[in-house]
Amino acid sequence: MEMPVFVDKKKDIGMKERIEALMAEIEALSCKSEQEIEEARVRLLGKKGSVTALFEEFRTVAPELKREYGQKLNVLKNTAAAKIEALKEAAAEAPAAGAASFDYTMPGDPVSLGSRHPVSIAREEIVSIFRKFGYDVAEGPEVEDDWHVFEALNFPPEHPAREMQDTFFISDSDNPVLLRTHTSSVQVRAMEKMPLPIRIVCPGRVFRNEAISARAHCIFHQVEGLYIDENVTFADMKQAILLFAREMFGAQSQIRMRPSYFPFTEPSAEIDVSCNICGGKGCNVCKGTGWLEIMGCGMVDPNVLEASGIDSKKYSGFAFGMGVERIAMLKWQVRDLRNYFENDLRFLKEFETSL
Ligand code: PHE
Repeated sequence: MEMPVFVDKKKDIGMKERIEALMAEIEALSCKSEQEIEEARVRLLGKKGSVTALFEEFRTVAPELKREYGQKLNVLKNTAAAKIEALKEAAAEAPAAGAASFDYTMPGDPVSLGSRHPVSIAREEIVSIFRKFGYDVAEGPEVEDDWHVFEALNFPPEHPAREMQDTFFISDSDNPVLLRTHTSSVQVRAMEKMPLPIRIVCPGRVFRNEAISARAHCIFHQVEGLYIDENVTFADMKQAILLFAREMFGAQSQIRMRPSYFPFTEPSAEIDVSCNICGGKGCNVCKGTGWLEIMGCGMVDPNVLEASGIDSKKYSGFAFGMGVERIAMLKWQVRDLRNYFENDLRFLKEFETSL
């Protein structure tokens, strides 16, 4: 049978091969990003895509070949569409583009180290100074009984000095349980148990029912000290405190004593150190006086020694006590005590170099 004239046999030449080549190309397609997949779709199935172009060409295919080529072209088109779908699904499941391109050789984000709390730094500095003088460290419970906080320290029941301490009571029975208002309670425990002579410092947290302000807090820290031996005198106490003040506030520091009152010491004194900011000339930190109040002290009252079973005829001693926050405020010119308890990183970071 004669071929119809409009069929150009040449046009068929290579179409089968081109369909096969395109099929191989589609099967090997491996683009990953959404953009690449869309580009591949347009390249194959878009209006000017290569699969679409083959369909255009199909119109000129000899009728006896149309069936075979038509089938092949349909398979090609379906394969291309299915491949594009499969690539899209794979892209949606794959980790984000950012994760896929993570550069493991990049330096990490810096992790900043924490810093010591200024109260810890000050407490350790105070304790280490007294350690150098030969003092041991003694610690005791924060929840105490009346005996160790008051009675053994010469505060009889109803004594007005108890009022000064603004105690938090946990139970209010005949033998109340309370939060210690000073670490003198640890000194009592030491006097009851330790062999003489005793030379200790007692660092710890204490509690007083006071309104919170720039100068007072209901929780703060103390370091108290106790030295008991034969022939311990007021001059020994003065010397120990002067040496401490010079280690803590600088070699030029002077101390002065003002008479004071504590039930457990007699005589008692309040210690001032010369202002380390103005060197004693007077400034706004020392309120023009040239002196800063740092601690209370005194010779242990014989009643206190006897209450703990120590022979007050043979032994004498001195005691002192200071607030750690107060010492830290003076050393680093912190104006508001509340800074110590608020954990504001801008404040805490200022002490980073003191690590
Ligand atoms: N315990 C006293 C206080 O908390 C301080 C102090 C200790 C005073 C030892 C004198 C001697 O206020």
